Amino acid sequence: MRWLTRGILLLAFSACDAGEPAVVAVSPAAARALYVESCAICHGDRGDGQGPRRRSLFRKPPDFTRQAWRQDKSLEELRSLIREGRPGSDMPAWKSLDDAEIAGLAVYVYEIGGGAGGRSE
Ligand code: HEC
Repeated sequence: MRWLTRGILLLAFSACDAGEPAVVAVSPAAARALYVESCAICHGDRGDGQGPRRRSLFRKPPDFTRQAWRQDKSLEELRSLIREGRPGSDMPAWKSLDDAEIAGLAVYVYEIGGGAGGRSE
């Protein structure tokens, strides 16, 4: 009987190992293109929150170029925020984007404020 238990345990473990596949993000260039197409109208081409629609928005988009906005946020939180949107604001839920696109966008906005390079235009 022991071998049977062991077999079941092994099976359970290998199922865990398979787990969630790691999220592979689209390329930075593809993320940038998506951003320009879908996000810049509110968030601004540079990500400073000064998109053409800003004036009509009740809650204003944050300034991604300031590092402060993302200090308490993880990439995982950004991904779910982009996917689910922000109820009560104009931030839409991006159900039409797939996981790779959302992952790419999360990294893109995360790095606007200077991920590695500390860019501040
Ligand atoms: C129609 C306007 C609009 C569009 C289009 C839009 N957003 Fe937003 N977004 C907002 C607003 C407004 C907020 C601020 C919400 C709030 O104050 O709670 C926001 C918030 C966010 C935040 C959270 C910032 C924070 O501090 O929590 C992220 C990240 C974000 N948007 C990413 C995106 C991405 C990526 C896209 C494109 C796929 C996008 N947004 C498209 C209006 C928009």
